[in-house]
Amino acid sequence: MSDVKQIPLSKPSIGQEELDAIKNVCESGCLAGTCEETKLFEKEFAAFVGAKYAVATSNCTTALHLACLALGVGKKSKVVVPAYTFPATANAPMYCGASPEIVDVHPDTWNLDVSKIRTRKPDVLMPVHCFGNPADMVEIYDYSVEREAYIIEDAACAMPAYIHNKHAGTFGTVGCYSFYAIKNLCTGEGGMLVTDEEEIAELAHSLCDFGKTTSKPLPRFTRLGYNYRLSSLQAAMGRVQLRKMPELHKKRLAIAALYDKFVESELSGKVSSQRVLPGHVSAYQRYALRLGFEYDRDTVLSELAKRGIGCTIGTFDLSSQPLYLNNCNGISVSKEVFYQSISLPMYPDLSIDDAQRVMDALAEVLKR
Ligand SMILES: Cc1ncc(COP(=O)(O)O)c(C=O)c1O
Repeated sequence: MSDVKQIPLSKPSIGQEELDAIKNVCESGCLAGTCEETKLFEKEFAAFVGAKYAVATSNCTTALHLACLALGVGKKSKVVVPAYTFPATANAPMYCGASPEIVDVHPDTWNLDVSKIRTRKPDVLMPVHCFGNPADMVEIYDYSVEREAYIIEDAACAMPAYIHNKHAGTFGTVGCYSFYAIKNLCTGEGGMLVTDEEEIAELAHSLCDFGKTTSKPLPRFTRLGYNYRLSSLQAAMGRVQLRKMPELHKKRLAIAALYDKFVESELSGKVSSQRVLPGHVSAYQRYALRLGFEYDRDTVLSELAKRGIGCTIGTFDLSSQPLYLNNCNGISVSKEVFYQSISLPMYPDLSIDDAQRVMDALAEVLKR
């Protein structure tokens, strides 16, 4: 089987423009995260998503940490995190000493199920846009207003995703994005925090840069800060990627439409995909499928691998991970999604022929 052409799970769309932009920064001699290039990326990113302020960070996890710090999350804070997510979401409040309440997800969208929140008065809600599928931010926002809670949107995968034409990541007090190697906007590693609150932006900027003040001629150090900055080399790449986002997103949407049609026509009753709510547009960072209980996820993955198809699991159920056991109660949907889900190859340059090969292989593996 080694001569079978491999179709990877994901592939960044990097071209000459990114290489040229990186070269220009190298030649400028200003490579740090404090240089103009990073500031320009912040400005352009904020404008793209429609936020007032943006703070570039070393990754989304550090953006989430800064968001928690800026909102004053501490030991006694009640922070709500969905169970079906990458551990970084729960780790951010834990870095601040909080013990998050991990809540089950909705069986259709795989996003936070507000009706399952037990804490009567949460301080912070951390909805995740799972694989770029926007969470129901209208419902979550209304709930947050009623309970006077802040919202930190984990928009790691939601670049770009929309809820009634507004960018996912801009509904909460703070939104955090990831530019990791297999995210839609890729700088290898990287992240961005966005907010409309000037005070939060200033605090996040300071905490991101050793806790410096902006005083002249020298900064002062008045709080414990971090070095969570994004370098100018990464920012240069990010600026080019940002310009390509609409076109790259269009290609993902086209592949998702092909997969959707296939799932409805050929795999009906065998698998289900994430429901995208009306008026919502997913970023499709991943295209994931939940297999019926008659299938064993790992067998399906290994059969697909034998056919050269680079599939993997969806993401993690925190209630199945030892570190979070004490924070979980009554989680069932997330567990099922974790044990039954697979991600199919999804990237802008996936050809129609290769997508067809993925679908043919899947139909064969799931044949009963
Ligand atoms: C939902 C979610 N949140 C946070 C992260 C962490 O992002 P980063 O790798 O940029 O720290 C990821 C990474 O995959 C993620 O999927």
